[in-house]
Amino acid sequence: MDTLTAIKQRFSANHFSSRPVSDEMLVTLIDAARQAPSSFNQQHTRFLAVQDLAARQTLRAIAYNQAKVEEAPLVLVVLGDLRAHEHFAEVAQADVQAGIYNQSLADYFVDTVKNGYADPARAHDEAIRSGALAAMNLMTAATALGLVTGPMIGFDAAKLKKTFAIAERYLPVLMITVGYNGEGNWPKKTRRPVEELLVRDARPGQRHLLS
Ligand SMILES: Cc1cc2nc3c(=O)[nH]c(=O)nc-3n(C[C@H](O)[C@H](O)[C@H](O)COP(=O)(O)O)c2cc1C
Repeated sequence: MDTLTAIKQRFSANHFSSRPVSDEMLVTLIDAARQAPSSFNQQHTRFLAVQDLAARQTLRAIAYNQAKVEEAPLVLVVLGDLRAHEHFAEVAQADVQAGIYNQSLADYFVDTVKNGYADPARAHDEAIRSGALAAMNLMTAATALGLVTGPMIGFDAAKLKKTFAIAERYLPVLMITVGYNGEGNWPKKTRRPVEELLVRDARPGQRHLLS
């Protein structure tokens, strides 16, 4: 399936069949997710795969009893690292070793990232931004592989972190239910027309529909 078709076909699933998602598929999905860009390549995003039925039942309670969390054979908790900026030197080293940029540029990047994200609000926004991009990659890839997905923010983040032993530094960004299509799903919902969303050829000082 080509990318545009996958983007257009993706819909938010509420119902899943009982067919499990293989580990090979899971790895393919995370590999697709990690291709997403992040600021300075900080790579904030991590994933917790909840697969065991009893674990999914516990997760369902944390997700305000949304049945799809139990029904889907795989639930991915997308986590954003609030301290990615403190660990950026490792990434910069890998990029230097790969010959992408040199050590003096790496030192400059490390300094810029450490200072730039010292403000927790900025680090928080960046973790969400990166997590969202990775999640979208993952859902597009899943569609291309014949899977269906459902993004969710309806869960108690504090309870989730405590129950699944998630360290303080990781922010729950999103949950994604993943599996094969079940019966009774709504089709993809409507979207506003392009002309309502787009301002063409924006110029300084000119007013437009978003002014
Ligand atoms: C950030 C985010 C959070 C969402 N949280 C939930 C949720 O907790 N429960 C749910 O049933 N759907 C949730 N959804 C799914 C949306 O309702 C769905 O994407 C939207 O209605 C559009 O449907 P479509 O993707 O099938 O067109 C969420 C979607 C996003 C992007």
